Amino acid sequence: MHANIVLLPGDGIGPEVLAEGARVLTAVAEKFGHQFSMASFPIGGCAIDEFGTALPDQTLAAARDSQAILLGAVGGPKWDDPSAKTRPEAGLLKIRKELGLFANLRPISVLPELVQFSPLKPEIVNGVDILFFRELTGGLYFGESGTRPAKDGSGEESFSTMIYSTGEVERIVRLAAQAARKRRNKVTSVDKANVLEVSRLWRKTFERVMKSEFPDVTYENVLVDAAAMHLISKPKSFDVVVTENMFGDILTDEGSMLPGSMGLLPSASLGSSGPGLYEPIHGSAPDIAGQGIANPLATILAVAMLLRHSLQLETEAALVEAAVQKVLQAGHRTKDLAGNGPWVKTQAMGDLVIAALA
Ligand code: IPM
Ligand code: MN
Repeated sequence: MHANIVLLPGDGIGPEVLAEGARVLTAVAEKFGHQFSMASFPIGGCAIDEFGTALPDQTLAAARDSQAILLGAVGGPKWDDPSAKTRPEAGLLKIRKELGLFANLRPISVLPELVQFSPLKPEIVNGVDILFFRELTGGLYFGESGTRPAKDGSGEESFSTMIYSTGEVERIVRLAAQAARKRRNKVTSVDKANVLEVSRLWRKTFERVMKSEFPDVTYENVLVDAAAMHLISKPKSFDVVVTENMFGDILTDEGSMLPGSMGLLPSASLGSSGPGLYEPIHGSAPDIAGQGIANPLATILAVAMLLRHSLQLETEAALVEAAVQKVLQAGHRTKDLAGNGPWVKTQAMGDLVIAALA
């Protein structure tokens, strides 16, 4: 097949891990006779430096025209000035919104050979396999917000609002429930319906869709504070989790600590049509950038998600995942996973995965 893939390396370790993801794509194309055309465009802090905006028009246009987008990471201390007109993160939020990428899939599983890296007891994390569906284009991130003179006379007051429509809840719930059917057939919806009106609409809609369209799928509601606790005390109780944007942001960072390293977790952001966006869930890690020691495996696993969800290449996707597992089972580690043991650099890890594809 022929596919047009846009690469958005971004900032910090983004370019280093993305280079390995691109090499894996090339290796897959060679092995299976596909043609992937890949071109890089700026996003984030480097785009602010060069073009004065975190998402230049040509980047957005190329992304719209593609079948899939692979992103490294954005941000860094250089652009952290709170008085700055624009921030690297704005580029990410804008591309999500512009491309209608409302569903953010974040799988969290713990490989047996890495259980030792978890801060939790092995018997709690062994066998954890959760798929988060985080709503990505609504809620607090995109609701009405503003700043005005404070009512108490103390200066200013600011507000951000959480808004969800029935349709926004229905579409993410449907994707979550469909995914559950292919897994362990259970969906947990996380909300704060004991306090927030918006959560009560969320819960009502979730229950209606599950009862009427997915009578074969088990479901439950869990309040977000309890969910934060259960993620640590009994993570194996979760299969598919569906939740609003900010709850999902927080819970998936918490969940990423179950395997003990963010360096292994990919994510996919999907809309109802058009290209999907794939990225590691870790950030730009400016403290280790440029040293060739970042872990490229989360990006390589994001490549597997890209092959599966945007290009419908399931065999290729499964092969990439198996290659990563093989390399880890053989004992190869990047610095973040090595403890006091030996480790390989970013590019060498890419080489090992590519060799394991054969
Ligand atoms: C994430 C990140 C982003 C978010 C930031 C960088 C805007 O934390 O993808 O989880 O909050 O969505
Ligand atoms: Mn986050």
